[in-house]
Amino acid sequence: MPRSHSMLSPEAAADGPSSWLSAPYGAVYESTHEDIIVRHDPTLDLVAVIALHNTQLGPAAGGCRCWHYDSQAEAVTDAARLSEGMTYKNAIAGIGFGGGKSVIMAPKSGSLTTEQLHRFGEWIEELDGRYVTAEDVGMGVASLRRVAERTRFVSGLGHNGVGGDPSPYTALGVLRGMQAAVRHRLDRDDLENIHVAVQGLGNVGMRLATLLHEQGARLTVADPDRARVDLAVKALGATPVGLDEIIGAPVDVFAPCALGGVLTQSSVRDLRATVVAGAANNQLATQDVGDLLMAQGVLYAPDYVINAGGVISIAAEYRGKFDATIVRARVDNIYDRTAAILKRAYLSGESTNRIADDLAAAILNAAPRKIPS
Ligand code: NAI
Repeated sequence: MPRSHSMLSPEAAADGPSSWLSAPYGAVYESTHEDIIVRHDPTLDLVAVIALHNTQLGPAAGGCRCWHYDSQAEAVTDAARLSEGMTYKNAIAGIGFGGGKSVIMAPKSGSLTTEQLHRFGEWIEELDGRYVTAEDVGMGVASLRRVAERTRFVSGLGHNGVGGDPSPYTALGVLRGMQAAVRHRLDRDDLENIHVAVQGLGNVGMRLATLLHEQGARLTVADPDRARVDLAVKALGATPVGLDEIIGAPVDVFAPCALGGVLTQSSVRDLRATVVAGAANNQLATQDVGDLLMAQGVLYAPDYVINAGGVISIAAEYRGKFDATIVRARVDNIYDRTAAILKRAYLSGESTNRIADDLAAAILNAAPRKIPS
């Protein structure tokens, strides 16, 4: 199965899943999505994209992102790209879900209204369980509760004090993946005095920074939100740097925890860290950036392998089988899974991202084929 990063124009989305598309970072790929649905309610001034990449392993699961996109094409591209990453993430995490993602074009007025969230919920309900949504950037538990008033296909809300916001599990998984990468690259079993640059102190980044602080790591941080930076400085002894400086900070580990696409052919030349391990989805602008990182001697812990803690929690909650001890143990397994991928990459001389993709593709290839109805 090819790894595509599809830039889908609205026209292309209307053409169906096999259109040739121009990609955001210069290349051209064939979309492998099963379905990309663009919904528009002009009365409510609401545009949403629901991308179903692959449902071979189960319903397409992946959160909803509410973001300021310059165009509808950009929103479609993001949904397409993120949903493909979810296919790989969910396959490797072994949670019995396929890959999907939705995005909502953030309204100019600011936050989404109850009516808009309800309409979005109705659009998901119409898919009758082919897609299951949850939190993502710009879509928190409160908004998701409004969505859930119109659809059954939501997880990450929490029931009877279990489940809910997946971010703590994501942060824990990223920590475990980072520990495996530090072990592999720096030959260290602990993070004491390991210097980590955390880019983005949101739901995951702040929790990750806190866990790292508890492990004795030193922190350098950046976030446009001054209050979050101040909190990290005060509570965690972090050193603040500018948004443009964080990637080139003189640290051991760079942890991207904001948005995707931060690792480009040009930006990675500024890296001084020898390990990259963070929460952001789609950190590599293109797959060959992973090769470049390897050539530079930087160990990249594949994003979707180490940030799967959240989907592990979401899947358990959706199935009504949330047991905190079991979920924690499954998130803990991210250490072993990451270590195995890093070792295989080391032995084969291939980049870690390609090894992870190969593994996900092998899992999908081994799954029973769906019989077309
Ligand atoms: P969030 O929206 O809570 O946090 C993002 C943070 O990044 C915000 O504090 C924002 O101010 C900051 N930011 C924005 N632009 C920045 C820049 N240029 N430099 C530095 N910081 C910047 O999002 P959340 O939930 O923490 O997710 C972070 C990343 O992790 C996203 O890419 C998300 O897709 C990914 N992720 C999140 C999961 C979760 O459980 N929340 C699960 C798996 C992946």
